[in-house]
Amino acid sequence: HFPSRVTLVEVGPRDGLQNEARPVATQAKIELIGRLQAAGLTEIEVTSFVSPRWVPQMADNTQVMAGLPRQAGVRYAVLTPNLKGFEAALATRPDEIVVFGAASEAFSQKNINCSISESIERFAMVCDSARKAGIKVRGAISCALGCPYEGEVAPERVGWVASLMKDIGVQHVGVADTIGVGTPRKVQAALAAALQHFPLHEVSGHFHDTYGQALANIYASLELGVHTFDTSISGLGGCPYAKGATGNVATEDVVYLLEGMGITTGIDLPRLVQAGEYIRGVLGQANGSRVARALIGQ
Ligand code: HMG
Ligand code: MG
Repeated sequence: HFPSRVTLVEVGPRDGLQNEARPVATQAKIELIGRLQAAGLTEIEVTSFVSPRWVPQMADNTQVMAGLPRQAGVRYAVLTPNLKGFEAALATRPDEIVVFGAASEAFSQKNINCSISESIERFAMVCDSARKAGIKVRGAISCALGCPYEGEVAPERVGWVASLMKDIGVQHVGVADTIGVGTPRKVQAALAAALQHFPLHEVSGHFHDTYGQALANIYASLELGVHTFDTSISGLGGCPYAKGATGNVATEDVVYLLEGMGITTGIDLPRLVQAGEYIRGVLGQANGSRVARALIGQ
């Protein structure tokens, strides 16, 4: 049964911009977020509270949160790898936080400088504090379909990390194809592993489009009934600790796919395309969304 409605979590301001080497003005990030919500996005990953030495682009996290054009019905999420990040984030009133682990040991070390089990200990402290503050915690499982350092990743690894996250009180898991190597049947196996520990409405897909498989993988996810996906405006992004990884699947392309299938997203495609054109203009880059390029005639 295909879902009749899908929720898109816009990760462009965070996953997209974190990969830009040149600093993007705080005001441009805030303007982008305003345009995204005006286009109908109701869940936006705004920034991350990570070490500014590791990811300089996110160093203005507090200023971006302070300048948010907060709108009723829109949820603003931020990434927090540890208690230090959580405490800094809490002061800026996020609606949700995201802890980010991995199904691969090598990637965990490269990305957050600790093992998977150490990361779970850190996340457990974050979850306890978040629960007391009444903030929902999502967990991302990176390298769920493959690792740039270890290669193949078995679905059992995804299930194992999902179970560890469940045990510490994480409320939602995102199955993340960090380097975009997944194909539909493998994606279904990884999602099925996560679904052994989390209900359908608390499992999402986060697909980078490096190998051009993301739309096929979303279709495969819909076949399982999964109805929440992370997407990035104009296909912005990548991960600084996964060399060669491109952006997430473009929000515009996913909206076009879903609306074409009669699945409601609540998103206004022309306004979305304008939001993508805005940020690509700021960056001085060509639009990475095929649908956007088609609609603007490039
Ligand atoms: P570490 O060096 O092991 O941390 O970094 P530490 O606890 O040893 O502290 C070292 C220094 O960092 C100290 O400062 C701390 O205060 C500071 P110093 O005393 O040297 O001046 N520090 C912090 N500063 C700000 N915010 C914090 C924080 N924590 C410590 N939260 C750490 C560990 C996790 C901080 C580091 O490895 C890091 O920041 N990593 C960034 C990873 C990242 O942002 N990756 C990209 C996002 S994940 C992603 O894109 C994947 C995803 O999209 C899904 C997918 O596609 O796979 C979600
Ligand atoms: Mg990502």
